Amino acid sequence: MKNSASGSGPKRVTTKTIAAMKKERQKIACLTAYDFLTARILDQAGIDLILVGDSLGMVFQGNETTIPVTLDEMIYHSKAVVRGVERAMVVVDMPFMSYQANVEEGFRHAGRVMKETGAGGVKFEGGERIADLVHQTTQAGIPVMGHVGLTPQSIHQFGGYKPRGTSPDEAKAILKDAKALEEAGAFCVVLEKIPARLASKITKALTIPTIGIGAGAGCDGQVLVVSDMLGLYEDFQPRFVRRYARLADLIRESVGRYVKDVKEMKFPSHEESY
Ligand code: KIV
Repeated sequence: MKNSASGSGPKRVTTKTIAAMKKERQKIACLTAYDFLTARILDQAGIDLILVGDSLGMVFQGNETTIPVTLDEMIYHSKAVVRGVERAMVVVDMPFMSYQANVEEGFRHAGRVMKETGAGGVKFEGGERIADLVHQTTQAGIPVMGHVGLTPQSIHQFGGYKPRGTSPDEAKAILKDAKALEEAGAFCVVLEKIPARLASKITKALTIPTIGIGAGAGCDGQVLVVSDMLGLYEDFQPRFVRRYARLADLIRESVGRYVKDVKEMKFPSHEESY
């Protein structure tokens, strides 16, 4: 981890900064990143939180779900991301089956991520079910981001990517889960693909910030998958993704021009040669 502790760079975002932002009603901006260069650009652009999401299993590795991602792969990507960041807080997603077996195993794996990557915290999917793990992890000084609603590691159980919390019983359970995470010591909680009204209700009921993805404008912050919002991942576009750029088009067009220049011997020029 560069700077801040030594006082040389921008002031690093910490769990304290994130907590203060909710109190001061400042919205929290979060994006995912999986590599050094992207992380550095997001950091320079003023992002508050960078999540090394296990969504990398889909948008980086080309899998259909996040299930195949391993702990070693998460650590590899997280090290690269941390090297690119001076200000933002970096949180690492704990991948499927790195914490589901038992509390002890999840706790040790979270510790390994912190020791080997230099990140500022970890994220677990689940609510009440993982409260003991969240408690033990935070008691050891590891900041935990929770994640409730549509939790992609349970996609086979849900049977698809439909919004969660649309029935009164499920809405109640999601609120209970979010509260359980707060009580267990989580510093914030991701609310994924739930009705905006439910997300607002949870945001008001919690003292810790909520970070929404497909959960409406009432959350304390927002997160998107960077490859979606930059228009790099074109396989599908859920309605909650706003495309801020069309990088895939830009890359195809640029590479097309390069290919043409090489074939027509227009590249390299005299000035580009030694
Ligand atoms: O894996 C991921 O990128 C995530 C975010 C979408 C919240 O969990």
